[in-house]
Amino acid sequence: MPPLNQKSSVEQIRARFDQDVERFSHLETGQVAMPDSLLFMELIARAAAAITPQARAVLDLGCGAGNYTLKLLQVLPDLDCTLVDLSQPMLARARERVAPATRGRVDTRQCDIRDLQFPAAGCDLILAAAVLHHLRGEGEWNAVLASMASWLRPGGSLWVVDMFEASSPAVQALLWRRYGEYLEQVRGGGVAGAAYRDHVFAYIDAEDSPRPLLWFLDRLSRTGFTNLEILHKNGSFTALGGVKCADQSG
Ligand SMILES: C[S@@+](CC[C@H](N)C(=O)[O-])C[C@H]1O[C@@H](n2cnc3c(N)ncnc32)[C@H](O)[C@@H]1O
Repeated sequence: MPPLNQKSSVEQIRARFDQDVERFSHLETGQVAMPDSLLFMELIARAAAAITPQARAVLDLGCGAGNYTLKLLQVLPDLDCTLVDLSQPMLARARERVAPATRGRVDTRQCDIRDLQFPAAGCDLILAAAVLHHLRGEGEWNAVLASMASWLRPGGSLWVVDMFEASSPAVQALLWRRYGEYLEQVRGGGVAGAAYRDHVFAYIDAEDSPRPLLWFLDRLSRTGFTNLEILHKNGSFTALGGVKCADQSG
């Protein structure tokens, strides 16, 4: 992957997602570029409901067209929903889909998650699906983790689905080869086979800067999250969550 200083800018990432709303708008199929994407959504929703059944408010970071919030509303109805994304077309689609699915309040916020202003202890649940890999160096990850901890009420929970790196380069190479083989077998936006694999690999190279999974889990616990859970892992993709320590006030 190119070094961090040669990655796409926030503006370039926003422009690409502005053109990609349809791909993230199908609750029944999920997005094919992520293996097991339906299972990830289902597990996150079920685990969030099991761990935080009293939840009244969810904050969905990098919400895209709203799939994760919609899935969550199937098991925790009528939440207040704050939907955050860089892309205005994504947010417009998310609002259109989420508003009819809840009797709670729906707010949309177009901004970079690094710049989000949100009240301390303002929500019970945070969802961050396929968005944190857009953060760059460790400092940005640490800052966003600290913000997420402050936005959650004590006892609230954070749920993340993302691409993470392996601990050793040899295993990373193995998992990446297998992901390439997976991509060759699916079809996205009318493209299939090696062409689809190369398309996905090109935008990952340009845009994404994932961290190692074990580094992320360690940071979660140092930031005050407990009861860490790995719900599912398929190669480079993992669904996980944790609870904000009840003795932290934010
Ligand atoms: C791969 S999509 C995932 C969408 C949704 N979470 C899902 O899983 O269906 C990533 C989304 O995050 C948004 N995004 C990327 N970087 C962001 C940032 N720094 N701040 C806010 N949103 C961001 C993109 O615009 C895009 O809608």
